[in-house]
Amino acid sequence: MTRKEKKEAIAFAPATVANLSVGFDVLGLALDGVGDTVRARRREAAGVAIVDILGDEGKLSRKAEENTAGVAALSTLALAGVSWGVELIVEKGLPIGSGMGSSAASAAAGALAVNGLLEKPLSLEALIGPCLDAEAAVAGRHADNVAPALFGGLCLVQQIDPLRLLHLPVPKELWMVVVTPQMELSSRKARSVLPSQIPMREFVHTNGRMGAFVYAMLTGDLSALASAHAIDPVTAARAPLIPGSLQVIETALAEGALFSSISGAGPSVFSMVAGQNKGEQVAKAMARAFEQVGLPSKVLISPANNPGARLL
Ligand code: HSE
Repeated sequence: MTRKEKKEAIAFAPATVANLSVGFDVLGLALDGVGDTVRARRREAAGVAIVDILGDEGKLSRKAEENTAGVAALSTLALAGVSWGVELIVEKGLPIGSGMGSSAASAAAGALAVNGLLEKPLSLEALIGPCLDAEAAVAGRHADNVAPALFGGLCLVQQIDPLRLLHLPVPKELWMVVVTPQMELSSRKARSVLPSQIPMREFVHTNGRMGAFVYAMLTGDLSALASAHAIDPVTAARAPLIPGSLQVIETALAEGALFSSISGAGPSVFSMVAGQNKGEQVAKAMARAFEQVGLPSKVLISPANNPGARLL
């Protein structure tokens, strides 16, 4: 081992909200306060061994090839071309199957922790590849969670092969509310119900809404954001899997949210609001709406502009 090669590195990656209703598989935003932590320890033997996972209630696979932190770590080692391997400890700060980018947070933290051991670390852009490999192993090959989990902020994944990532500004007064009902929904299941074709009128409508959303982010014109709200075909297809989700969205809007939809693959529902106080009011109303269908929930109120993965 050379002097510059470290023995251990610890990385944290945040929760994320993907899709944002107008950008299925292309838009995602980092949240504040919760996320996953991965500790990587260098070993002589090649490959990745997951020695422990904390906080998953035994739900996740300890096999590296079946765990997003493990896949991302394996793929980062391969990309770096090193002959040694790592032992990982994964600390889940995020509920699994919650729609807050749990698999992506583990992947981003896994990739970054391994990167932290390299004599010549790879760029964050390069780590998207290993994170995509990880997402593909558990659900689908999309970067709308892993991009903001790595980079932070609001990311627009224009394309993944080759990667073209755009970083959008986020208006200062924008806050996120994410309400997570007590149920699990895997991305795989939530992707299985998606329509294989979208009618032309929906395509046109979504293009218009996406334009208004991006305009709102660039200019800070929150009325343009509010005008971009609609129940898109992906949300409509997934809503039956999440009891009360459409009522929760309606309630949020009635309470003054600017924009609301299913977060990622669900079951969490998010709202975008102007200011923290409005966030608290909207969060309470959304949680009450879930309660009305018998689902207790947890709320997260976060500024909308947050940093991404970091070494601790
Ligand atoms: N864009 C993805 C989806 C995010 O909605 O399925 C969740 O994995």
